[in-house]
Amino acid sequence: MTSPVRLALLGCGTVGQEVVRLLHEQSADLAARVGAPLEIAGIAVRRLGRDRGDLPVDESLFTTDALGLIKRDDVDVVVEVVGGIEPARGWLVEALRAGKSVVTANKALLAEDGVALHEAAAEGGGDLYYEASVAGAIPLLRPLRESLHGDRINRVTGIVNGTTNFILSAMDATGAGFAEALEEATALGYAEADPTADVEGFDAAAKAAILASLAFHTRVGAADVHREGITEVTAADMASAQAMGCTIKLLCIAARGVDAGGRETVSVRVHPAMIPRSHPLASVGDAFNAVFVEADAAGQLMFYGRGAGGAPTASAVLGDVVAVSRNRLAGVRAASESAYADLSVRPMGEALTRYHVSLDVADRPGVLAAVAGVFARHDVSIATVRQGSAGGAPGRDGDAELVIVTHVAPDAALAATVGELRGLDIVRSVTSVLRVEGGA
Ligand SMILES: NC(=O)c1ccc[n+]([C@@H]2O[C@H](COP(=O)([O-])OP(=O)(O)OC[C@H]3O[C@@H](n4cnc5c(N)ncnc54)[C@H](OP(=O)(O)O)[C@@H]3O)[C@@H](O)[C@H]2O)c1
Repeated sequence: MTSPVRLALLGCGTVGQEVVRLLHEQSADLAARVGAPLEIAGIAVRRLGRDRGDLPVDESLFTTDALGLIKRDDVDVVVEVVGGIEPARGWLVEALRAGKSVVTANKALLAEDGVALHEAAAEGGGDLYYEASVAGAIPLLRPLRESLHGDRINRVTGIVNGTTNFILSAMDATGAGFAEALEEATALGYAEADPTADVEGFDAAAKAAILASLAFHTRVGAADVHREGITEVTAADMASAQAMGCTIKLLCIAARGVDAGGRETVSVRVHPAMIPRSHPLASVGDAFNAVFVEADAAGQLMFYGRGAGGAPTASAVLGDVVAVSRNRLAGVRAASESAYADLSVRPMGEALTRYHVSLDVADRPGVLAAVAGVFARHDVSIATVRQGSAGGAPGRDGDAELVIVTHVAPDAALAATVGELRGLDIVRSVTSVLRVEGGA
């Protein structure tokens, strides 16, 4: 048989341990699929003495010298499941420049500095694969990078963070507030002790950047993504959404557009939004992920599955390991990232959205006209107006609740409208402002 493909595994935590297990349990099948055995040359970790259960691997393979392991001549493929920007960036650039292939699950690094990695891969001639970095087990990046390359993708809308989806699904099902639902997510292991990266949308923004880059053949980094988290979503917001036949999801949205000069652009954003229950993403519950892709010829496609967890993520890592190993044996390299379109990223203020606004207003004649006048001044057209409590906080005596849904308008115009409403005497409070997506 052909000599083995030798792997350096960087990291042996939640994902790394499952990678080791799958390599061991499926070694014969993997060897048959690759055309050579896959062997672990070494495993870099931070703490040598850490209990890793009964991992089927020789203790002597562990090292704290990741760079030394990467540089070894007998290492062909580097699998990085450590996470974070440094030292991972330095390690991977080193490995790629030396001609090794890299498989990584590190969305933060790809969104922060994917360019450096792609350039190093081009320089060294190895492959850079990162299927596990977005939506865990779901085959998504390969379809965007290969299967849909004959088509034109117009929009990608995704639920790509399991923690926030669990929290919002719980709020929807039980009427709980954000804090209570977060507590439940933490108790069940769906949220980390410090949930900031998830609940503030940083994790989803990194994934949005990776998805947009692949979908639109344009380099999009984390800093290009407009980001809002879910910490401000209240039980009253969810009740308002329910009253409209909607639910609230943290969406990542990457869409083509055209600027004032007629040039094609992309907008990439992450924020909570109301979507109708009839939308395929509305039924994505618990910690599941799903990504909805709209393309010219293919039409609508939905990718659904487990977006996190050791074994699901390791499945995606192993798929990449098999692909890059085969390429090495065949002496070929996969097509590199394509950024030829080089579209500019549109500021959030120009993104076209719709708003759902709930107002607690004085209950007297002329109020509706005054409120409508504010929308008109900012050129925002109103789609529907409803009066009533709609699950919102009951107003004081002499107050009424107005629920307004707009047509599509630039986000800046909608924000300015809400700003002016907040300053009106007749508006006691703006109780809820949410974007609306998906035809609600
Ligand atoms: N967990 C998931 O569900 C999931 C899903 C998709 C993608 N990912 C991505 O997969 C990657 C790994 O996630 P994880 O959940 O497996 O993380 P984890 O459980 O925290 O494991 C991290 C591993 O990296 C090692 N490590 C940390 N700093 C190191 C250093 N300076 N030198 C050498 N080793 C070091 C740790 O060593 P010790 O064991 O000695 O501490 C540990 O083995 C991240 O990029 C994450 O975003 C994770």
